[in-house]
Amino acid sequence: MSTVLSIETSCDETAVAIVKNRQVCSSIVNSQIPIHQQYGGVVPEVASRQHLEIINQAIALALTQANLTWQEIDGIAATCAPGLVGALLVGVTAAKTLAIVQQKPFIGVHHLEGHIYANYLSEPSLEPPFLSLLVSGGHTSLIYVKDCGVYETLGETRDDAAGEAFDKVARLLKLGYPGGPVIDKLAQEGNAKTFGLPEGNVSQPGGGYHPYDSSFSGLKTAVLRLVQQLEKEVQPLPVADIAASFQKSVARSLTKRAIACARDYGLTTIAVGGGVAANSGLRHHLTTAASTHNVRVLFPPLKFCTDNAAMIGCAAAEHLDRAHISPLTLGVQSRLPL
Ligand code: KG4
Ligand code: ZN
Repeated sequence: MSTVLSIETSCDETAVAIVKNRQVCSSIVNSQIPIHQQYGGVVPEVASRQHLEIINQAIALALTQANLTWQEIDGIAATCAPGLVGALLVGVTAAKTLAIVQQKPFIGVHHLEGHIYANYLSEPSLEPPFLSLLVSGGHTSLIYVKDCGVYETLGETRDDAAGEAFDKVARLLKLGYPGGPVIDKLAQEGNAKTFGLPEGNVSQPGGGYHPYDSSFSGLKTAVLRLVQQLEKEVQPLPVADIAASFQKSVARSLTKRAIACARDYGLTTIAVGGGVAANSGLRHHLTTAASTHNVRVLFPPLKFCTDNAAMIGCAAAEHLDRAHISPLTLGVQSRLPL
């Protein structure tokens, strides 16, 4: 098994890690959230500048904390897509430069592959085939992981990603950015049965609903209408009950689709990934439903659900073991299917 130094700068975390044998030797995550909070969301130009300022220190710290020398590193990886182009460039350029100077192979990693392989860090015996439910700020996908590098997307969101829905609902409830963690916390104090909200179904041309695709923009609009109505009737707004009802709708929607997909494709493991994998409502609903269908559900530890470099290193090590190496001409891309 290879030892990889990995860099993740696709959005608002400057992260560097060293991963060996599906084990984390060091993981540095510098969140820019406090900087972007004042703008209510990530400002791309500010993100690139911040990455640039601390990337070198983060690399040095990752090596020191792992107590490793460059001789012990087999490859250098970075997230190359999808994400903010300027932000991605900082990580990819740093990784390519190190690869040249240290004469190591360079491995460009798809960000979503990282979220899938985060599950290997807590379940090192996991091997394909399995189903991955990827739920982040930019994606909501059901992916059939057939082998390392061989993926089939079976379901997607038609509009907002699950994390985006959390962020938008938090904004309309004036709870700040990012919305997921704060809604999750509030939901635990609220009653999820208070308000009935739609569960993100997507109608099919021939009738009925698409079994694996979801839609969260209707749910977000339903919350907006509910808030507008309640503001006329009740003060203060029952924010915890709204958060709990909204979170239950998202959790039920994702659970229904993931279980249907796993059963239809005969897959007995669902490995969840992405920031929304940290959500307590999703963890509870999916684990409960899966146990009644004899499906195993894996969630990465909370710190490896949201963006980090250990997951990128884990994916890169799998590729390096199979001699999948990227050319130094590899560019970055804001959008790229898995
Ligand atoms: O994977 P991630 O860190 O970045 C992307 O690749 O997008 O995911 C960030 C998203 C944000 O939308 C954030 O609100 C959401 O994950 N999130 C959560 C929770 N923690 C983070 N959503 C629901 N519940 C949480 N506990
Ligand atoms: Zn992510």
